[in-house]
Formats: sequence, structure tokens, C-alpha cells
Amino acid sequence: MAITTDIDKAVQLLLEGALVALPTETVYGLGANALDVSAVAKVFKAKNRPSFDPLIVHVASIEQAQEVAELNDAAIALFKQFSPGPLTLVLPKKVAVPDLVTSGHPTVAIRIPNHPMTLEVIRKSGLCIAAPSANPFGYTSPTTAAHVQEQLGDNIDAILDGGPCGVGLESTIVNLCGETRVLRLGGLALEELESVLGTLKVQTSSSNPKAPGMLSAHYNPGVSVRLFSNKKRLIDAYDGVDNSKIGVLIMGEGLEGATVFNLSQSENDIEAASRLFTGLRALSAMGCAEIWAHQLPEKGLGRAINDRLKRAAN
Ligand code: TXA
Ligand code: MG
Repeated sequence: MAITTDIDKAVQLLLEGALVALPTETVYGLGANALDVSAVAKVFKAKNRPSFDPLIVHVASIEQAQEVAELNDAAIALFKQFSPGPLTLVLPKKVAVPDLVTSGHPTVAIRIPNHPMTLEVIRKSGLCIAAPSANPFGYTSPTTAAHVQEQLGDNIDAILDGGPCGVGLESTIVNLCGETRVLRLGGLALEELESVLGTLKVQTSSSNPKAPGMLSAHYNPGVSVRLFSNKKRLIDAYDGVDNSKIGVLIMGEGLEGATVFNLSQSENDIEAASRLFTGLRALSAMGCAEIWAHQLPEKGLGRAINDRLKRAAN
């Protein structure tokens, strides 16, 4: 496995059925040719991912999306407005898509990622690329090439280094089959989607593992996470205990110290999102015995950050 910036090398490997980690604006993905069943099987194996959890197929354009999915008017409107970008749409699949990609569901998740290197890889290869986040199943998603190397380096053929991910949280997933619903809060704020679709139902948790993407325990940083309902509660508790081994994720003023990671001094939700996974990893790497975090206001990307923290704390 090699970290590279060579786009042609990545294209060649993908055409040969190999696994290549690819940069996107949200998190790094573990890419394979979506229409090659044996390549897709390697993705599940490398991540230790259960086969009931389907993959997102990445394409470079609306036209390419139509090779693998049936796009209705809403899908075209949403892709035109928000893509390339952190939006994934669940749509009826076309027969070309192997059942392994969709875990046997009649639907496929499609996304046009906003990263110039990965868009070039897709265009040059002509492939639709199945890519889950490039982390072992259940763990924190990678936002740099080095994170991928640490967690999956031995299991994959190459990592295309496109620098740190700008958004830092996975894409927002919207189901457009049957009733329109948000299946995962993510890098595209709910408010933005609702400005196009009107008020949306958000259904992001389920105890049924067959309902993809909703497993309540996820994003495990390797240390237990305790989540407080707000910053004041966290600070009050922190002041009352021996806090030398407690790592803290905080937003804005309140606490400082070697084991305090500030998501955004100016309380900006976009900045906080881009630093969330890095912060969880940094505190875990410092050897903190526990990570404490507090919920953010439920608006903008704060919703998706709270969702990830709740699952990490589970
Ligand atoms: O930002 C992202 O979406 C990143 C980058 C690499 O694109 N990818 C990502 O993939 O987060 P992954 O596999 O970690 O999460 C994809 C989620 C899973 O929870 C899966 O269950 C859900 O998408 N999903 C995939 N296909 C689906 C389908 N047909 N119906 C409902 N959910 C689906
Ligand atoms: Mg993932």
C-alpha cells in the first residue's frame, strides 16, 4: 500500500479491480469499481463490514448517475442544486448494480463528491465507484490520508492523498423512494434541504440492522465518550472531579488545557464539523481515559455533530 497523489495510478488500480482510498470533501472513501462484484467484496472484507450495510456509489455527473439509478424530478433538482457536494440520494437501482453493493435492496445510494482529484479519477476511469468511509466498521471516519493508513493501510492497495477533508462529516442521506426522508444527518444542513423540499421527516435511528446506516453504536474513537446535554453541565461536572485524564471536546469559551480540544473558538458549526473527527482522534491518541463532549445547538451542522457524538457515546 502506498500513499500517492498519482491520479493515473489510482485509475489503473481501480480498473484492475483493486481497492483505492479516495479523498472527498466529507471523509475519505474506500473505493472500488461498483459494477465488479469481486472488487466490491474486497471492500466489505477490508473494512470488516457486515454485508447488510450497503455502499454509496460515487459518480461524476447526473448523466453518470442515470447509468445506475432511476432519477426522478426531485433527484435531478437536488443534484443540480447541491452537487457536487455532501448529499447522497437513495433511488431505485438499475439492474447493472450488483446486489452486494445494495445489500439486496432494490435501491441504491448515489453521490457526486466534491473533490477535484476524485472527480478526475471517476471521469478518467469511466467507473462508478462504490466507496464506504475508509475506516474499519464501527470506527471514526478518516479525514486525512494518514488516518486511512493508520486504520486500513495493510488491507488496501493505495491511498490517493487529496489533503484534509474540508467538510469533515459524512454526507447527508435522503431517501427519495416512497416517502421522502432524511436517513442520515450530515455535511449538508437540514435547513438547506428543507429550503428546496419543505419540511422533512428525519428518521436516523433504528434498532433494525436491516435498515441501513442507522446503527446506534458507531464512530467509536477507541475511548469511551460521555455526552452532556450542554456545555454548562459538562463544565460543572469537570470542575467537580479529578479531570487530569479526561479529554474534552468543547465549542467556544469555557475550558482550556492540554486535554481540551476546541471544535470552534468562534462557535462556528461548519468549523466544528471539520474538526470533530480530528478532535476525537487527537484526544484518544493522547491516552485520555475518557472523552467528554457536549451537545451543540440543534441547527445547521450542529445536528449532524450531535448525531455523531450520540453514536460515539453509545
Ligand atoms: O460522505 C459520505 O457519504 C462518505 C464518502 C466516502 O462519500 N461515505 C460514507 O459511506 O459515509 P458509509 O458506507 O460509511 O455510509 C453510507 C451509508 C451507510 O450507513 C449505508 O447503510 C447507507 O449509506 N446506505 C447505502 N445504501 C443505502 C440504501 N440503498 N438505502 C439506505 N441507506 C443506504
Ligand atoms: Mg461509515
